[in-house]
This record gives sequence, structure tokens and C-alpha cells, in this order.
Amino acid sequence: MFKSIGIDAGGTLTKMAYFNERDQLVLESFPSNDLLRVKEWLKQHPNVEEIGLTGGRTEQLREQLETMKSIEYILEFEATLKGVQYLLVQEGHEIDDAIITNIGTGTSIHYMGNGQHVRVGGTGVGGGTLVGLAALLTGHRDFKEITKLASNGVRENIDLLVRDIYQGMDTPIAGDLTASNFGKVGITAATEHPQEDILATVQGLVGEVITTLSIQFAEQKETEHIVYIGSTLADNADLQKVIANYTLLKKHKPIFLQDKGYAGAVGALLNINK
Ligand SMILES: Nc1ncnc2c1ncn2[C@@H]1O[C@H](COP(=O)(O)OP(=O)(O)OP(=O)(O)O)[C@@H](O)[C@H]1O
Ligand SMILES: [Mg+2]
Repeated sequence: MFKSIGIDAGGTLTKMAYFNERDQLVLESFPSNDLLRVKEWLKQHPNVEEIGLTGGRTEQLREQLETMKSIEYILEFEATLKGVQYLLVQEGHEIDDAIITNIGTGTSIHYMGNGQHVRVGGTGVGGGTLVGLAALLTGHRDFKEITKLASNGVRENIDLLVRDIYQGMDTPIAGDLTASNFGKVGITAATEHPQEDILATVQGLVGEVITTLSIQFAEQKETEHIVYIGSTLADNADLQKVIANYTLLKKHKPIFLQDKGYAGAVGALLNINK
């Protein structure tokens, strides 16, 4: 039986990673507002002797676990990077440098390359913004439900595009770029918008803000690749599409890892056996 697990206790989700008896990577997640479930899980897995731990909810989880296990703490940023580097290799990406954009509850952006890695910035616009705005605007607060509804929505009646402004003229930049997220609502006669459309537009806003910022850092650091991670991308093809299209338009290469939200947990696990 496996002895080690990695845990990334994040603002919304607590992610867990371990290699099972057949050396396969197993990933699980728990809501961070119910850390008792992690404790329960550990009680059911007495084989676990050591925990690699990272994330902003580390102290809370430590209190919950008391002194049950030996704990090896690693800074979130270090864990994420370790995990991303491991997963990139596993998934066949050969890159030396990249911007890493972690779309968690909030978004943090890092640069790795030239043998160094630094946090370059971030934004409060992230997965928490998607769920929060969705809840305020439509009453839906379940992530799966929100993304499912959003996938059936269209943004064209809510977002203002560049070509909507430059009517009948040549546009100075691509006409189908968003000129103003939600900008059409305020300048057109009041109409009811379906929830699906509102949610698709919220998702567009979140994706475009994050991509815009990531691209600026990629240009500053002169790197081609942007690796997008974080559970906000999990089972969320539409957000990935928003991000991929915009990144490609700006001549950068978007990379999405299969195990989107688990880089931190994987890094915390790998850190134990360093
Ligand atoms: N089952 C789920 N429950 C809640 N949110 C989910 C779920 N699956 C995906 N999400 C989305 O993922 C986001 C959280 O992503 P992630 O787990 O990467 O962040 P975190 O590590 O908890 O937060 P942070 O890194 O900012 O502390 C949520 O805000 C939500 O948009
Ligand atoms: Mg996180």
C-alpha cells in the first residue's frame, strides 16, 4: 500500500494526489469548507504515513489533522511548479520556458525559464469570480451546473465587439475581439437575457481578463508558451476555448494539462520523496 500523499488545500478545493500500488497517479478533491472529509479519508487509509502539504488552507488542515501524520510543508508556488514540470513531461510537452497561469479561486501567474522561476503577478479574477458572479446574476452556484448552462449560451447580445463599434468601417484591430465585456447591455434597449447567455458572458469575461494578463507577461518575458492550470478549467471546454483562441490570436501557444487542478498536490507529493 502507498505511504505518501500530497495535499493542496486551496481556497475552494482541497486536492489530493498519490501513487497507488500499481504506481498509477490517483487524484481526488474535497471541498475546502469541509476539511473533516479529508480527516475521514485519512482514517480510512491508515497506510498513509506522510503527507506533503501545500496551499493557503494548510494551517486549517493541520489543525484538523492534529498530529496524526508526519507533514512535509512546501510553499504553494514551489509545489505548483514542481507539479507542472512533472505533468508537462508526463504529457509529452517538451518546453524549457513558459508562463504558468493558475486559475484557482483567484489567479496567480508565474514564469519559469532560464533555470529560474518567479511569481510575476496575478488577478483577483478567477474561478471564484466565475462562481460568484454567476450566483449573483442567475442564482446558480454549482460549478458543474454553471459551466453546463454556459456551454449553451451565446455572448453576442451582451458583449460589445469591436465591429459593433466600427459599424460599416474597417476596424483597427480584429472586428470579432471583445471591445467591452457586457458592454452591449448598457447601450441597447433593455431586454431579458437568458441565463445561459449571461453565464457564457461571465465565463468570457473571466477567461479574457486572465488571458490578456498572461499574454502581457509572456511578452515581457519573451516566452512563447502559456501553461494554463487550475480547477476552473476542469471539464470546462468553453473556458478553454476562450483562452486558447485569444492566446493563439496573440501568437502564443496555450498548453492545457490533463489533470488541470492537481499540479500543487502532485508537487507536494513529489516533494516528500525528494
Ligand atoms: N467541484 C467543484 N466545486 C467548486 N468549484 C469548482 C469545482 N470544480 C471546479 N471548480 C472551479 O474551480 C475553482 C477552484 O479552483 P482550484 O481548485 O484550482 O482553486 P483553489 O486551489 O481552491 O484556490 P486558490 O489556489 O486560489 O487558493 C472554483 O472557484 C470553481 O470555479
Ligand atoms: Mg490552488
